[in-house]
Amino acid sequence: RTIESLGSLRSRTVIVRCDLNVPLADGVITDDGRIRASLTTIRELRDAGARVVLISHLGRPKGEPEARFSLRPVAARMAELLEVPVNFVAQTVGADADAAITGLADGDIVLLENLRFNAGETSKDEAERLAFAKQLATHADAFVSDGFGVVHRRQASVTELAAVLPSAAGRLVAAELEVLERLTARAERPYTVVLGGSKVSDKLGVISHLLERVDTLLIGGGMLFTFLAAQGHSVASSLLEKDQLDTVRGYLAEAERRGVRIVLPTDVIVAAAFAADAAHETVSAHAIGESSFGEAGIGLDIGPDSAAEFARVINESATVFWNGPMGVFEMEAFAGGTRTVAQALTDTDGFTVVGGGDSAAAVRALGFADTDFGHISTGGGASLEFLEGKQLPGLEVLA
Ligand code: 3PG
Repeated sequence: RTIESLGSLRSRTVIVRCDLNVPLADGVITDDGRIRASLTTIRELRDAGARVVLISHLGRPKGEPEARFSLRPVAARMAELLEVPVNFVAQTVGADADAAITGLADGDIVLLENLRFNAGETSKDEAERLAFAKQLATHADAFVSDGFGVVHRRQASVTELAAVLPSAAGRLVAAELEVLERLTARAERPYTVVLGGSKVSDKLGVISHLLERVDTLLIGGGMLFTFLAAQGHSVASSLLEKDQLDTVRGYLAEAERRGVRIVLPTDVIVAAAFAADAAHETVSAHAIGESSFGEAGIGLDIGPDSAAEFARVINESATVFWNGPMGVFEMEAFAGGTRTVAQALTDTDGFTVVGGGDSAAAVRALGFADTDFGHISTGGGASLEFLEGKQLPGLEVLA
């Protein structure tokens, strides 16, 4: 259901679930991509004369207030971007929140404090979630679900709230779905998926699902070392998930059976320590233990030959989905692989999608613009689960 299904919104109080979970360093927002992505829906509701109540989580507080997870800086940034006041209430439910909501005039916007300061939001007990959702819904006439990054979560503000109010998907959720459906239902071939990030175990579902759909999988990031180890290579002190070795061997065998190419790096950058200024050198991916650092060596990025090969494959692809950095891009010495892959995505004529909060923050931190890519998804876990073919609870309730 889209916003149109809610009818006229003039003078109606509309509660909007956004994903304003932005990275912060010492209280300063380091990437405002998710705030920007939420603006289309908010502007539209405001223009329609709605009284807009914004709700979101930030980080993973454990059901009680923690100052470092406050949404206050987000309200300030949003007001700057919208160029209208965004009133912040340091409470999610209660007398202050009630007063702020009932005091709204048409077109006014209020942002409530972090949903996860309340145990009911993430409770495993459905009755508790429902009770919290009902509290949230007290003064609202309608609910718009626009936090794409959380639609894979069964949480009060995502699932139960949609059940207690007339509800609809917001513009961001609709736009994300359109792109991801294009990837699952009608991806143009050759279809290449670039996977990085640290853990294989986070990507298990998506890898096995992708083996049925893609032509090529390019593997970088910390998880590549478990792939190399599964092929029998020594990885010295690089990240290794020993308990995933059999699973990875299974993937390699299945890929071969299906004719899917899994491309692993042929060279890697190995460092003496996990530090921005650590001594480092480029070695063969099959001889990591033979670097000058011996068994202490840690692989922190794919090497230049591998990055060039990844770029070549990306350039020949009609569709590319990328999730997860290729190396420790926050440290300049180990950002080369991620930068080359990002550059290749911007150069190719194919349709490119960057999935995930972290990958999106990585490309912006490296100086790329959102418009350089076909689409930058605001959802990491959500976009992966969608590609896995899972039913997402936050979407099911809007169907
Ligand atoms: C994300 O960062 O992927 C979303 O905001 C969801 O956050 P969560 O993984 O803490 O539920």
